[in-house]
Amino acid sequence: MSTGAVGRAYPRLEGPEKVTGAARYAVEYPVDDVTYGWAVPAAVVRGRITRVDAAPALALPGVLAVLHHGNAPRLAPGPEPDLWLLQEPAVRYRGQLIAVVVATSLEAAREGARLVRIDYDAGPHSTVLTADHPGLYRPDQVNPSYPADTAEGDFDAGYAASPVRVDVTYRTPAYHNNPMEPHATTAQWRDGRLLVHDSNQGAAPVQAALAELFELPREAVRVIAEHVGGGFGGKGYAKAAVVLAALAARQVQRPVRLALTRQQLFGPVGYRTPTIQRVRLAADTDGRLTAICHDAISQTSTMREFAEQTAVYTRSMYAAPHRRTTHRLVRLDVPTPFWMRAPGECPGAYALESAMDELAIAAGVDPVELRVRNDPAVDPEQRQPFSSRNLVACLREGARRFGWTDRDPTPRSRHEGRWLIGTGVAGSSYPVRARAAAATATARRDGGFLVRIDATDIGTGARTALWQVAADALEVPPERVELRLGDSDLPPAGVAGGSMGTASWSWAVIRACEALRRKLRDAPGAADEEVTAEVSTADEVRAQRTLPRYAYGAQFAEVRVDADTGEVRVSRLLGVFAAGRVVNPTTARSQLIGGMTMGLSMALHEEGVLDERYGDWVNHDLATYHITGCADVERIEAYWVDESDAELNPAGVKGIGEIGIVGTAAAIANAVHHATGVRVRDLPIRLDKLIALSPLA
Ligand code: MOS
Repeated sequence: MSTGAVGRAYPRLEGPEKVTGAARYAVEYPVDDVTYGWAVPAAVVRGRITRVDAAPALALPGVLAVLHHGNAPRLAPGPEPDLWLLQEPAVRYRGQLIAVVVATSLEAAREGARLVRIDYDAGPHSTVLTADHPGLYRPDQVNPSYPADTAEGDFDAGYAASPVRVDVTYRTPAYHNNPMEPHATTAQWRDGRLLVHDSNQGAAPVQAALAELFELPREAVRVIAEHVGGGFGGKGYAKAAVVLAALAARQVQRPVRLALTRQQLFGPVGYRTPTIQRVRLAADTDGRLTAICHDAISQTSTMREFAEQTAVYTRSMYAAPHRRTTHRLVRLDVPTPFWMRAPGECPGAYALESAMDELAIAAGVDPVELRVRNDPAVDPEQRQPFSSRNLVACLREGARRFGWTDRDPTPRSRHEGRWLIGTGVAGSSYPVRARAAAATATARRDGGFLVRIDATDIGTGARTALWQVAADALEVPPERVELRLGDSDLPPAGVAGGSMGTASWSWAVIRACEALRRKLRDAPGAADEEVTAEVSTADEVRAQRTLPRYAYGAQFAEVRVDADTGEVRVSRLLGVFAAGRVVNPTTARSQLIGGMTMGLSMALHEEGVLDERYGDWVNHDLATYHITGCADVERIEAYWVDESDAELNPAGVKGIGEIGIVGTAAAIANAVHHATGVRVRDLPIRLDKLIALSPLA
């Protein structure tokens, strides 16, 4: 018997705290004797620091210290070279954080940072990704651990022998995560122990990284992240702010608050790699795919390899006898790329789902029908049935809700005054995974329950969802349950990332609640004592069967393009998703339309513009790096189909953090083509590109 909390719409538990300003973020905790850190970025792309003159900064009232490679506390070299900060004179990309000024006020720290004089020996650099870069190589694997290349059948022969063919290359630029709250930390050392209030997507990996860098036992490091103002992947691991704050606090022996500036989020904490993707599709005259090839090129840094899984989406999405996918990388003098919402799947789906649209036109088949016809019965590469696959249901339901049926496929066939109107569709999928997690459940003497787990709520509603899950597992009204998360002193539970949060954490919460109920049943006399059960799902997760498992979606877009100016408006976005059980319709809808909005942003607005002479992105603030705002979002709808999948995890969830962005940009690009007859193959779709490719009027 469940109390029915799961599946019911609850507002976020912490909503009132957030809107009244009572919720505290990483640099908002009151701390005695606190000081402020301000990071200094490198002004050259590649080279070494020859001299640091801190005297002008130190002469400023309030400045306590200037840390740099010549005087900063030593760190142990860890697995993450990006975190080995202030340890050596080498500069590996422009904007690398190479010094920190610590002062008694934020203003003095900022002014001090401006006054530090740094001299460099600079060498030549290479910062632009090109399809013929001499440094291109094949990585051993791509994230998280897929083979770089796959091949089945004979692509070249299959492609050559097919009557309908598409051979197209798409480009996506660098994208930068811009959470409202930057990477920010308050660090305090006490008796050799390190306490950080840090903005991240998981306390445990931050704790592990700090313990390693500062050569401490894990228990000597405590990481608290109770409220986090967004992450989107960019806070999925320890980043510069927390390391710099801990170094600075050790040096000045006082607590240090350090927040990266908006400009410092454009590089030092990672970004989505630009991509160059060639997609070749071949089909018979009915649009049945015979050959698929997806060749993806992306970049990494000279510090470490980050190999985004751009073409992996194509491996399981549509069936064809002849298939090939490849990944090539080049090491550039740039910051290391990192996770950004649906890393790999998102840019990969843009390319494949755009190419499917081009194939639909070449074959004269409706693009919804084309996808339905090529829906595989089993995973094309793993050759196993899917745990559940409801892409077709999403396409059909989406087509019905969107009003797709009477669509005239002819480009430029609809207009209202100056506005050319078009519609587009794309598929969407994202893998379903779970991580091991631990949790405790406690029965209190007053009849209440406390559930503890070091999960992180980065604004998704995770806290609320887990509270609902706990109430159902305990079979009590949710009001009797208290949930605690966001603290490395709680049972470890892994990051909020990879759309794995709710799947992994609810698993541990359910098992802990079940264990507690067994304890209470076996010892009924203990009602006047507090009883706690502690579990880890490590063995259970490891032993899990591994049928291919994915969430699916269908994205529909309507756009209006001004025939004179090329201005693009997305007048409607509609997504239908199959993501297992939905724990909380309110927060789920927010996640899905949030992802779709970011997809709109990718289609029309976001672009890191790199200047090779300068070796860096020239637009690194929110005035020049454009992000979709509320006025850009007109009608946006997210729905889901009923899906019950017993293979997944005890809560039956697939994860909804990333599926919403996958496919959105392709649906919009396809709609722009339908509206105008112009196919823009390098994002973002700007009016100047539309006009350059074909005068619209
Ligand atoms: Mo998400 S990019 O897996 O945090």
